[in-house]
Amino acid sequence: MTKMKRILAVVLAAVMCFAIVGCDKKNDVDSATESVVNSTSQTTAATNDNADNKTTTSGTLVMATNASFPPYEYYENEKIVGIDAEVAELIAQKLGMTLEIKDMEFGSIIGAVQTGTVDMGMAGMTVTEDRLVTVDFSDTYATAVQVIIVKEGSEIKTADDLEGKKIGVQENTTGDIYVTGDFGEESVKRYSKGNDAVAALSAGIIDAVVIDNEPAKNYVEANDGLKVLDTSYADEEYAIAIRKDNTDLKDKINAALAELKADGTLDSIVAKYIPEN
Ligand code: ARG
Repeated sequence: MTKMKRILAVVLAAVMCFAIVGCDKKNDVDSATESVVNSTSQTTAATNDNADNKTTTSGTLVMATNASFPPYEYYENEKIVGIDAEVAELIAQKLGMTLEIKDMEFGSIIGAVQTGTVDMGMAGMTVTEDRLVTVDFSDTYATAVQVIIVKEGSEIKTADDLEGKKIGVQENTTGDIYVTGDFGEESVKRYSKGNDAVAALSAGIIDAVVIDNEPAKNYVEANDGLKVLDTSYADEEYAIAIRKDNTDLKDKINAALAELKADGTLDSIVAKYIPEN
């Protein structure tokens, strides 16, 4: 059936560089603080009244994320770490800037980019046609799959079995959008963080969670009695969201990303967080 597997209308974004494979063992998210600002070195936050010129007038590259999404962004000892955090740090370095990370609700990231409150959004964010209406995206730097998490022994075996079930998602993510579209408003239970949805699944409040594959593996690893179904729900690509008229920054970020891909740095960051086995 068609809902079982869809290819998301992913854009141009030619240079795609690694497939995510293997099982992983990243630690669980520290679900604590939502609003901690993690600054890789101390710099006053940029004033953002003129986002167009920021890469030349400000030494700070401000990134919005939602840091409850291991292995891409999560807290470790009060600091935001993960693939996105490390890649962003290297991009900032190549731009001669200091990275500042702002943690916020996932659903606030696009708006923050659009209004210039931040320079970029990097949050395991999938490129979608809808998001492209309001923001631009860099070249892609990862592929992902929406997967289904259920309790061990669940009767749910495929996406079609989700019909009539309570399905947990992280609010405003592609998982939310697909599940709402396929199964209707009354089936969806929205949570501010992926691990809150997973906790609800463990507690028997919902029947399944639809979320990105690598975070799914992390959540299942950290919670007994859960499993990720083999069947996938949708294929996606991650990229960095940038304000539409900020082509200067987009070009610089793409150039930096290209270097990180070409010299193997991106691969080694991924390998560090997603050990293959
Ligand atoms: N890839 C999905 C999306 O773009 C989920 C991303 C959630 N990211 C996060 N840092 N919580 O909608």
